[in-house]
Parts: sequence; structure tokens; C-alpha cells
Amino acid sequence: MGDDTLHSIEERLWQELVRAPQRGHPWRLCTLATVTPEGLPDARSVVLRQVDPAERELCFFTDTRSPKVAQIARQPQGVLVMWSAELGWQLRLGVQLEVLDSGLAVLSHWTRLKMTPAVFDYLSPVPPGSPLERPSAERGDREHFGVICARVQTIDWLDLNTNGQRRARFGPGPGTASWLAP
Ligand SMILES: Cc1cc2nc3c(=O)[nH]c(=O)nc-3n(C[C@H](O)[C@H](O)[C@H](O)COP(=O)(O)O)c2cc1C
Repeated sequence: MGDDTLHSIEERLWQELVRAPQRGHPWRLCTLATVTPEGLPDARSVVLRQVDPAERELCFFTDTRSPKVAQIARQPQGVLVMWSAELGWQLRLGVQLEVLDSGLAVLSHWTRLKMTPAVFDYLSPVPPGSPLERPSAERGDREHFGVICARVQTIDWLDLNTNGQRRARFGPGPGTASWLAP
């Protein structure tokens, strides 16, 4: 990729992101960083479920009672970090986050999820992070399912492949891409 233009790299990045929700893809498991109400950083692993390149949007599933949901409601700016040893690429995506708990898209994801064992992730009787006397696999009868939508605003791409690494930043609009020192 020595003679790549910034434009061709950005296209290639989105092609790879579209593939990333597939099982086995190294970007399927990402780190999502948010900010707590106290202004402190927080981060956790999340599974990438869907990517819409036209909307520049990535989707994740979550329990709507989890602390990250309240964090996002107060501060919707977040960062997603992905690393692929196969590609030798790190992505740091600056994202605008939103959590949906109703509507057609949520219902359609939930309907499919209900057929899988993953449904139990959203049926806990207590919110994630609640103190427990001991580990419990108790299940409630109400689902707390939501979809985190992450609209990509900036992409920081680091490529470790070539002699001398490459790094570039892609902004939200045309003409906003630039090379950076790695
Ligand atoms: C491999 C792995 C995948 C995970 N995937 C998700 C996920 O897709 N959505 C989610 O809400 N939590 C997921 N979790 C759990 C989160 O990392 C986190 O522990 C939980 O959501 C509570 O986060 P919070 O307290 O920051 O809200 C995953 C954890 C691991 C280890």
C-alpha cells in the first residue's frame, strides 16, 4: 500500500469495518471509552454487531440499565479502539453515541436475539454493576435491551506494516484527511 492516497485508505478502512461484525474478525471486539458524570474516563469491551457505511454508524447491544448508558446520556462523545494484528492496523474512532431502547431497528435486533442463548444477557433481574452477596445466574422476566449507535466523526488510523509506520486522520467531511506523524 506504499502509494496509497488518503482517499483510497479511507475507502479500504470502511470496507474492513463492514466486515468487522463477522465472527472471528479482530475488530468485532472493540473497546468503547466514555466519560462518567464525574468527568472521569471509563472503558469496556463491546461486540460490534452492525456497520452502516453510508450513515458512518456502528451498532452494539447493551443492557439499558448499565452505567455506560447513563454516561452516554450525559456525555454522548466517546472513543472506540480496535486493533487487528492481521492487518497491523489500529483504529481510534471519535464517535457521537446514542442509545435506542425502542423502534423498529431495536425490535428487529431483539426478535433475532431472542432465538439465541445471548438473550439471557438482557434478562438479569438486577442492573449490571449491582452489588451481590454471591455470583448469581438468576433470570428476570423483563428484557432490558438497547442498541448503542456510534456515529463516526473522526478516524485515527495507525498502520504498523511498512518500514516506518504510517498514521492518518480522517475527519467527518471531504478534504479533512491528513497524514500524521505516527
Ligand atoms: C468479550 C466481551 C464482550 C462483551 N460485549 C459486550 C457488549 O456487546 N455489550 C455490553 O454492553 N457489554 C459487553 N461486555 C461487558 C462489558 O465489557 C461491561 O463489563 C458491561 O457492559 C458493564 O459495563 P459498564 O459498567 O461500563 O456499563 C463484554 C465483555 C466482554 C469481556
